[in-house]
Amino acid sequence: MKKLIINGQHELTGEIKISGAKNSVVALIPAAILSDDNVTLYNVPNISDTIALIDIIELLNGKVEYKDEVMKIDTSKIENKVVPENLSKKLRASYYFMGALLSKFHYAEIYFPGGCNIGSRPIDFHINGFKKLGAEVTIEGNKYTFKAEKLKGARIYLDFASVGATINIMLAAVKAEGTTYISNAAKEPEIVNIASLLNNMGAKISGAGTSEIKIEGVNHLSSGVIDVIPDRIEAGTYTIIGALLGKNLKISGIIEDHIDALLSKLKEMGVDLDVDDNSIIINHPDTYKPINVKTLVFPGFATDLGQPMSVLLTQANGMSIFEETIYENRMGHVKYLQKMGANIRINDRTAIIVGPTPLKGEEVVATDLRAGAAMVIAGLIAKGQSTVNEIDHILRGYENIVEKLQNVGADINIIED
Ligand code: EPU
Repeated sequence: MKKLIINGQHELTGEIKISGAKNSVVALIPAAILSDDNVTLYNVPNISDTIALIDIIELLNGKVEYKDEVMKIDTSKIENKVVPENLSKKLRASYYFMGALLSKFHYAEIYFPGGCNIGSRPIDFHINGFKKLGAEVTIEGNKYTFKAEKLKGARIYLDFASVGATINIMLAAVKAEGTTYISNAAKEPEIVNIASLLNNMGAKISGAGTSEIKIEGVNHLSSGVIDVIPDRIEAGTYTIIGALLGKNLKISGIIEDHIDALLSKLKEMGVDLDVDDNSIIINHPDTYKPINVKTLVFPGFATDLGQPMSVLLTQANGMSIFEETIYENRMGHVKYLQKMGANIRINDRTAIIVGPTPLKGEEVVATDLRAGAAMVIAGLIAKGQSTVNEIDHILRGYENIVEKLQNVGADINIIED
């Protein structure tokens, strides 16, 4: 089992370069199978979710070359096969093969996806969308079978602006007969990145990045090329770390608009940020003002940054409130923050955090990906040594986290026992 050992309280100086976005690349790779030729992705992060998706592409007889952040996927000989549970369970995004296989072959057999345990995470909006497009859906235990004589464009309204359902319905509709409209679509930057790849392959999608997406079906998708957008959650995580420990710490390769909500909250707390279009220089202040943070869909404050942000709030001067509105179970990290000395009370999906409280090094657990990021941040500011267990969750989403932090002066190491 891999663990992180962190000796805290080192100021961080230098530059951290942001990698390609996990939540984009995990949809771009399944989207690639819609091409009858090949797809090239640039700026692909080397994280375990990427590797898990390569296994599925290879199972389907695709050929993948992946080197130096460039992934070339030869999709000319893709075959339809059952995606077994041992592969689907490795990550949440395996569910994008539902939409992609249904679109390409009008038939898909795939098991329920895995992913972080942060709530019940049903996929009913995806299923309802596929049904509206004309698919028959059979569910036997964890196995989902999708079948359609033909897929026909439809008007689909989402009860909630779900990222996964928006992308999956785009994938399923892109080659359907006629036009599909998704209303109350998710507006996250990842949606725009996926639509851009599909359009580059010959699709006709407009409105991505707004709550109304129009997809005019096409018969054929050919080769495609796209840059994976920078990971706004990774950028946000390191920006929060900079707010706590940065001394002229530069975070580069960002898109400012993608992390506006976070930057605005950090400014409200009194953090010194020098932002230009694609980088930020951060200096930590001596004291932080307490604030309220409520997670929302984009462009609101990202749910994936709520847990990292809660660590910063333990250092604010007074009472802060962190409210999670997207998932039921985003507070897995709190008991470990309490163990380290934080003063936090949980009331359902709200954490009331009173600071500033010094944190002390402890043995803690990464209960999910972003809880793990929160534990790393806590370890970096704590006095003494912390051990973070179950870090496979963290390695699913943060490329080279240990090296990136070591390079700016953190005392953090990975060990295996
Ligand atoms: N929901 C339903 N039914 C559905 C789909 C979603 O009830 O059919 C609910 C979910 O249970 C949740 C809410 O709608 O309460 C939002 O879920 P959404 O579908 O937007 O999330 P997702 O597609 O499952 C992606 C990211 C998450 C990120 C969210 C929100 C991937 C693989 N995952 O999840 O990333 O939190 O969007 O931005 O892209 C992470 O990176 O740590 C992570 C959890």
